[in-house]
Amino acid sequence: MSEKKYSNPVSATINGIIALYKSKGEKVTLPENIDLSGKRIMITGSSAGLGLATAIRVAEAGAELIMAVRSGIPDKGELVKSRSGNPNVRMYHVDLSDFDSIDIFLDELEGDGVKLDVFIANAAMVPLESRQTKQGMEEMFMVNYLSTFYLINQLVSREIIDVTQSPRIIIISSESHRDPDRFDWDRFGEYHPYGVKEVIAKYGYYKLLLTTFANEFARCINSGDARTTVRVLCPGPVNSSIAREAPGWIQPLLKGVFSLFFRSPMKAADPVIYFCQEEENDEPIDYLYLLQKKPMAPLTQDPQNGKILWERSEALIKKLGY
Ligand SMILES: NC(=O)c1ccc[n+]([C@@H]2O[C@H](COP(=O)([O-])OP(=O)(O)OC[C@H]3O[C@@H](n4cnc5c(N)ncnc54)[C@H](OP(=O)(O)O)[C@@H]3O)[C@@H](O)[C@H]2O)c1
Repeated sequence: MSEKKYSNPVSATINGIIALYKSKGEKVTLPENIDLSGKRIMITGSSAGLGLATAIRVAEAGAELIMAVRSGIPDKGELVKSRSGNPNVRMYHVDLSDFDSIDIFLDELEGDGVKLDVFIANAAMVPLESRQTKQGMEEMFMVNYLSTFYLINQLVSREIIDVTQSPRIIIISSESHRDPDRFDWDRFGEYHPYGVKEVIAKYGYYKLLLTTFANEFARCINSGDARTTVRVLCPGPVNSSIAREAPGWIQPLLKGVFSLFFRSPMKAADPVIYFCQEEENDEPIDYLYLLQKKPMAPLTQDPQNGKILWERSEALIKKLGY
């Protein structure tokens, strides 16, 4: 049986810190003076943590920024404008746990004639325990995986992402996608309650689904005139508010460990910025952990898994009436 590094909060934190300081893979170099002017970039979950930091950095680099957020309208947008000196920042509301909210958001983008050069799927959550969404999905499954599957497919079919215009899709995954050793197709999309002890293992499993989808999407999208780049990354441990739902008694400990050992969100955004600025002639790199090149877990690269995941996700969404 493979070694599970991210199956509980303690081992996930310790292994995250070890990996951060034990540099292994060949690194890419982030150029200085990055210029993203002329690029329209949308980031989900840009009201906090890595997403907010990425928003500030791409705005600083001159991009036209769209913040797709559940909260922080308008204050987080104003913060990005003042920190970056770039007034070209728009905000849209979207709750990724709710298909109706995603549909309204898509209608608004379409109505405003938005076309994206880069889409960054960043939003994610870690609940204290399982919760059910309005449409009966398990919330972390919906926010961390299914909403991204739905959103990206809708952005493409509505031509908000025009696959003939060399767009780029950047997916924020996690090294924890390597932990699960199998897919649970039998119970795919079913709501099964779980408690605090299972949360981190579920988080890794949903990152496995997300990364498998990224591979399948990259395989399927480019035919005919389509030239879409799909990139996946893990930012490493980020000093963010991702553990905000952890029990109160452990919060001071987590805050201490996060602020002492984890990366600041601004620094953790390095691999996201690398993929935003990547030029067409650069060596294609599918996955970065920090700025290190790494292959994704073999399970995620198997076309058979990608195909099953795609079919199950599509069928589930159809069954829900979307
Ligand atoms: N932190 C780490 O150590 C770490 C390590 C590896 C990978 N990552 C990945 O990095 C990404 C960013 O995480 P982070 O650490 O920056 O976490 P964070 O500070 O908790 O930020 C998460 C963002 O996602 C948004 N979000 C959560 N649920 C949402 C929903 N239902 N609809 C719309 N937006 C929602 C949050 O919005 P609100 O502000 O409205 O809640 C927030 O903007 C995630 O994909 C995470 O899995 C993080």
